[in-house]
Amino acid sequence: MAVNFNIGFAISLIFVAVVAGVSVVAAESSKEVIVKTVKGQKVCDQGWECKGLSKYCCNDTISDFFQTYQFEDLFAKRNTPVAHAVGFWDYKSFITAAALFQPIGFGTTGGKMMQMKEVAAFLGHVGAKTSCGYGVATGGPLAWGLCYNKEMSPSQDYCDDFYKYDYPCAPGAQYYGRGAIPIYWNYNYGAVGEGLKEDLLNHPEYIEQNATLAFQAAMWRWMTPVKKGQPSAHDAFVGNWKPTKNDTLAKRVPGFGTTMNILYGDNVCGQGDIDPMNVIVSHYQYYLDLMGVGREEAGPHEVLTCAEQVPFNPSYKSSS
Ligand SMILES: *[C@@H]1O[C@H](CO)[C@@H](O)[C@H](O)[C@H]1NC(C)=O
Ligand SMILES: *[C@@H]1O[C@H](CO)[C@@H](O)[C@H](O)[C@H]1NC(C)=O
Ligand SMILES: *[C@@H]1O[C@H](CO)[C@@H](O)[C@H](O)[C@H]1NC(C)=O
Repeated sequence: MAVNFNIGFAISLIFVAVVAGVSVVAAESSKEVIVKTVKGQKVCDQGWECKGLSKYCCNDTISDFFQTYQFEDLFAKRNTPVAHAVGFWDYKSFITAAALFQPIGFGTTGGKMMQMKEVAAFLGHVGAKTSCGYGVATGGPLAWGLCYNKEMSPSQDYCDDFYKYDYPCAPGAQYYGRGAIPIYWNYNYGAVGEGLKEDLLNHPEYIEQNATLAFQAAMWRWMTPVKKGQPSAHDAFVGNWKPTKNDTLAKRVPGFGTTMNILYGDNVCGQGDIDPMNVIVSHYQYYLDLMGVGREEAGPHEVLTCAEQVPFNPSYKSSS
């Protein structure tokens, strides 16, 4: 056998490439997509990640286009010794949490480009709200998302007595900021808890103990309107929402800017290009770049930001 080293090396490279190609196909087909037609509409089930015969489950699921290494890229500094939630956040908890919302369209709406943009947008909010990055941080200020999972030195216990009938504060419970898009106040813990069927009013601490639950709480906020008749951040982002004449007059258009309007109102919107808004926008743009989508896909200034928008709801103290 007179095979020289170089040829052998070349052959083994080809072999690896072929094996990799086959395994990708095998992985895709082993997902066993069930396709049915219900009332003339195509609906699917892709197993644990997108269950329940939904039109959204006919599209790629999030793990098809957003994988562990990308999560690690986006949140590169979260487990460094100076971070404040070392070992807490991981890819698995993100994907496990997302399985609850993919059948209703989270990251599964509108085709590949929109799906990737929505994941970047959601995580842009998450990254900005959990960052401990600052101007001179190594890796730049945008590499520090998921550095926190809770407010470090709460100045109060965020119990609002106005809601004592619907969402009474539990003795000893503290409703300071916790989570991926932090939750503050008894009434917000109460509402999220109802949405997720978890007793967060009596156990707000669950959010800082369980990353899957923390991501689910943030996704619930993203997928659920703050008030009846208003769009959810998800609907505003993917274009399910059609602005009314009032919305148009208020400069509210489908896109990332309006998601900030919904989640933070006049804390970040309608005040021009202020820092609190720019920090969120920058995280979104940074993640679009890292995911290979490119920030140019975010659209023009009036779509990307809410600098000129009139807030849906005046002063929203829960998000300070
Ligand atoms: C699934 O993706 C296609 C494009 O690939 C898109 O046209 C369609 O709207 C998506 N389905 C849903 C339910 O969003
Ligand atoms: C964390 O929360 C998820 C989602 O609610 C739940 O399925 C899981 O059992 C929880 N993990 C622990 C250790 O309690
Ligand atoms: C539109 O805005 C006007 C003035 O602020 C308000 O009176 C009216 O109720 C709004 N209409 C809707 C459909 O929200």
